[in-house]
Amino acid sequence: MLDKNDILQIRKDFSFLKLEDNYIYFDNGATTQKPEKIIKGIDDYYRKENGNPHRGAHYFALKSTEVYEGAREKVAKFLGAKSPNEIVFLRNATEALNLIAYSWALENLKEGDEILLSIMEHHSNLVTWQYIAKKTKAKLVYLYLNDEMQITDEEFNSKISNKTRLFTLTAASNVLGTMPDVKKYIEIAKSKNKDVVTIVDGAQYVPHHSVDVTDLNCDFLVFSGHKMFSEMGIGVLYGKEEILNSMVPFMYGGEMIEYVYEDHSTFLKSPQRFEAGTVNVSGAKSLADAIDYMDEIGMDNIFEYESELTNYAYDKLKDLPYLDLYTTPDKNRSPIISFNFKEVHPHDVASILDSYKIAVRSGHHCAQPLHRYLDINFSCRASFAIYNTFEEIDYFVEHLEDVRRLMGIESK
Ligand SMILES: Cc1ncc(COP(=O)(O)O)c(C=O)c1O
Repeated sequence: MLDKNDILQIRKDFSFLKLEDNYIYFDNGATTQKPEKIIKGIDDYYRKENGNPHRGAHYFALKSTEVYEGAREKVAKFLGAKSPNEIVFLRNATEALNLIAYSWALENLKEGDEILLSIMEHHSNLVTWQYIAKKTKAKLVYLYLNDEMQITDEEFNSKISNKTRLFTLTAASNVLGTMPDVKKYIEIAKSKNKDVVTIVDGAQYVPHHSVDVTDLNCDFLVFSGHKMFSEMGIGVLYGKEEILNSMVPFMYGGEMIEYVYEDHSTFLKSPQRFEAGTVNVSGAKSLADAIDYMDEIGMDNIFEYESELTNYAYDKLKDLPYLDLYTTPDKNRSPIISFNFKEVHPHDVASILDSYKIAVRSGHHCAQPLHRYLDINFSCRASFAIYNTFEEIDYFVEHLEDVRRLMGIESK
């Protein structure tokens, strides 16, 4: 377990913690702050290595190619992929899910097929499938949750069938912290229908937990770099090479073609097939640097420390009579706690906390169907990262009382 000194050392890597304001940043589920090393890496790249990769024979073209492809190799190793060809760089998890939708689902799904997903999916892993269901006439089937915000085996077994052609599930909910056993469910899904295609949404999981896609045996996994210390605009689609190479391109243009004739073209294999146009080299580099940064701390250390923080916060919040918590009580959860004041609108809560320099998220967190299922419109969400501390949680909990006081609730 990382101790207080380790965390103090880590905190020194983050410039935002040195600002006079002394902000407490609990909106890491939206995006993390960036360590100095990663900001410097981006700066260095543009100062010394900037070129357009895969084009040209000069130093800068070659250097940027080396940086970009080196980042791909790093991501492949980080995810336990069999080959760098299984790693496609895109803008974010949303773009990765859309790529699967347009390049695989539109081409393969048909009436009678079912798309199995859970009610806790982020809109990017839900609205996308609504569109595909409409276009292909496949049916959307939802997995619902029990009172502990978990999918039960009974629920899963009653919804999975040989009609399930696409099964997509978040490995960690961005509202509830729930981490379903994706490996087990993928195995069952494949035993019901050998042609099922499986997607893991790793946007809230990969930043906190080590992953091995080969062990998970998923067909696809998606995540975004900006939620794990890299810059914005870089995300990853992992896909099994055989499936990727069987898919039509999503975007057409430069650097994804083999031969172009007047009336038709042939295309490169994955990953170039899916990376049309000039790519985001500094983003890929910053993601590779972020992986190094997290590996230095240790993914198991990160998960363990963040779990301790979350358990600490959960224990402090769970008995406050004026709060409703929406987080799973299971201690094996991602570092997220969502809650509502019984008598205060979440936007007021977030604004008041902001006046005490505490940043929490308020809204539907791109999960409207889940909020409707929970019978609420919005919630507040505190989400933690490696640079957060137990003292920050104490300060946050103390100031929840101020929210009540400022809203005049005490006097009622
Ligand atoms: C579970 C989950 N999936 C997907 C996404 C989409 O990520 P992005 O907006 O980076 O594409 C998010 C973003 O919050 C998320 O929490």
